[in-house]
Amino acid sequence: MKPMPEPIVADVIPTQAGYDRWAEIYDGEDNPLVLLEELHIRSLIRPVAGLTVADIGCGTGRHAVQLAKAGAKVTAMDFSEEMLKRACQKPGAETVTFIQHDLAKPFPLTDAAFDRVLCCLVLDHIADLKSLFTELGRLCRRDGYIVISVMHPAMSLRGVQARFTDPSTGRRTLVEGHVHQVSDYVMAAKNAGLKLDHISEHAVDTALATRSPRAEKYLDWPVLLLIRLRP
Ligand SMILES: C[S@@+](CC[C@H](N)C(=O)[O-])C[C@H]1O[C@@H](n2cnc3c(N)ncnc32)[C@H](O)[C@@H]1O
Repeated sequence: MKPMPEPIVADVIPTQAGYDRWAEIYDGEDNPLVLLEELHIRSLIRPVAGLTVADIGCGTGRHAVQLAKAGAKVTAMDFSEEMLKRACQKPGAETVTFIQHDLAKPFPLTDAAFDRVLCCLVLDHIADLKSLFTELGRLCRRDGYIVISVMHPAMSLRGVQARFTDPSTGRRTLVEGHVHQVSDYVMAAKNAGLKLDHISEHAVDTALATRSPRAEKYLDWPVLLLIRLRP
């Protein structure tokens, strides 16, 4: 009989503490999900010059700072102090309004104040999707839209969830999350009264696999889900 593979030994930590620890190395990682997202999300968001943008779950400000540089007035929110510290240190972050806030609670932002509402690579940490989508919809102007990126649920079939190697312990560390299916996202949007404007699923192709050693093992596997919604 073939031996069972060794179980992977990993620490599992709550989301906020997880990102506080991950912050130190987050931007320097070869993360196939981020690389793939950056190839496909731009056309769903831009142009943004002169527009108001909310970046919900902004992390180290990957989108917030770039959109501010592109001429948007950006408000960015996250509950991880360490991720926010990294965001604030980036050139161009001076014009972004950063808010530390837990997305499980109502957002301290005005109704219909934003032309674009982004929520990127966050939803796999959110238990109550409908409440979050309702808040995203509340922020968005009637003629604006909400852009969401999330790790594709098919990644859970490969045992993948948000994870990193903790630089302080050297241990593989899993950040607490929730497995949602594509239908959960679509139904949460519908139940929050939002209209589906775009949905696409993206796999790693040969070009990305060649460029990123970590992407190679996911060749042809769906890694990313992109959704655009209207109020
Ligand atoms: C994978 S990072 C993505 C960051 C950024 N949106 C990006 O795409 O680079 C997920 C972010 O969601 C934030 N997050 C997760 N759950 C949250 C919650 N309940 N409240 C606030 N932020 C949350 C984490 O702190 C982390 O910064």
